[in-house]
Amino acid sequence: MGKNILLGITGGIAAYKAASLASSLSKKGHSVFPVMTASACEFISPLTFRTLTNNPVEVDMFTPPERHEVKHISLADKADLAIIAPATANFMAKLARGIADDLLSTIIMATRAKVLIAPAMNVNMYQDASFQKNLAILQERGFTIIEPESGPLACGYEGKGRMVEPEILARKALASLTVKDLADLSFLITAGPTREPLDPVRYLSNYSSGKMGYALAERAVARGAEVTLISGPTALSPVGGAENILIEKAAEMQKAVRKELAQHDIIIMAAAVSDFRPHSIKEEKIKKDQQKLTELELERNPDILTEVQKLKNSNQVLVGFAAESSDILVKGREKYQRKKPEILVVNDISQQEIGFQADSNAGWLLVQDEEIKISQRSKVAFAEVILDEIKQHTISRGG
Ligand code: PMT
Repeated sequence: MGKNILLGITGGIAAYKAASLASSLSKKGHSVFPVMTASACEFISPLTFRTLTNNPVEVDMFTPPERHEVKHISLADKADLAIIAPATANFMAKLARGIADDLLSTIIMATRAKVLIAPAMNVNMYQDASFQKNLAILQERGFTIIEPESGPLACGYEGKGRMVEPEILARKALASLTVKDLADLSFLITAGPTREPLDPVRYLSNYSSGKMGYALAERAVARGAEVTLISGPTALSPVGGAENILIEKAAEMQKAVRKELAQHDIIIMAAAVSDFRPHSIKEEKIKKDQQKLTELELERNPDILTEVQKLKNSNQVLVGFAAESSDILVKGREKYQRKKPEILVVNDISQQEIGFQADSNAGWLLVQDEEIKISQRSKVAFAEVILDEIKQHTISRGG
């Protein structure tokens, strides 16, 4: 369910990055309430935030609220989380010393929600002794500081002071809002396609984008689990907070899975592993001077899931995937009986908007005799249902 996130923007050039943050949190279904200081409005227009969040942007303490309420208290009370990004040295000094002389500083003083602070400033200001003292006070008082990065700064200097990128902030914000109900579990997740080289320039593969496996890894990390992701080639960024192992061929995925297997409680195999690979990889590029190519000999790749099912111990939970385009349940059930994972996720890949490459998925979870239908939803929401079921399964087995 969407949460209420108060986004405080103070006056620094990194204010433009807060726009991406507002947009990404809103897109994830949260209500973002922007509050800007007067100097933030010199860098970016309130209209930008109004448009991205669909909520009123508060700047002034004394403009009458839409309903009769004490503005700073109502905003402070309704926030499930507050983020200040960017946070200037001046604003942080006010927070540390208890000065509440504008709307944002009064709200932050009044709120009981968790507050994330993303500082952004010149490197010398960041290193200044008085700033460092204020930083220590804020940390001691329980504010979560998202440390700035080092690199070229807008002021022309080089060093620590650049606000972290909005995607990282969004991830940290979402993680703060999430209950850490998988904290005791360690996950091994496979994702994406494998690539089987034919010659130096060509390969056999499939349409898997990795989105489903990465969504599982991201949500498991957010819910506190330890995660190792073994991924074939995708266009996705590594999952923050997880160990990311990148492979290409099925044989490499098999090797990585074997190496990792013993260290994990839950193994989820969402990868679309190529079933076949060329018998031999041509050293030279295959010539196209013939009308037909008939010499391509393929051999079976190892079935990693079947191997894991045999190697794992009885406490480990194995979750397989099946991609089916017709007679989905019948074929899924047959695969469940043949491969014997504890849970099988059967994807319906009959339509373009679900399954391979799409942002959504739909299908069934097979757990012993039970068939749980999952209607169409985003892959992130689909991942949550799978993780809920795994948690339930682990609890009922006394894990
Ligand atoms: O990556 P996306 O674009 O988000 O798409 C997601 C997905 C549709 C690829 C994914 O959700 C999915 O269904 N993955 C499994 C697809 C597949 O290869 O199904 P399968 O029926 O061929 O394999 C069944 C299971 O055996 C899978 O868990 C697979 O990882 C495993 N397998 C298959 C072949 C093989 N050689 N080794 C395996 O371990």
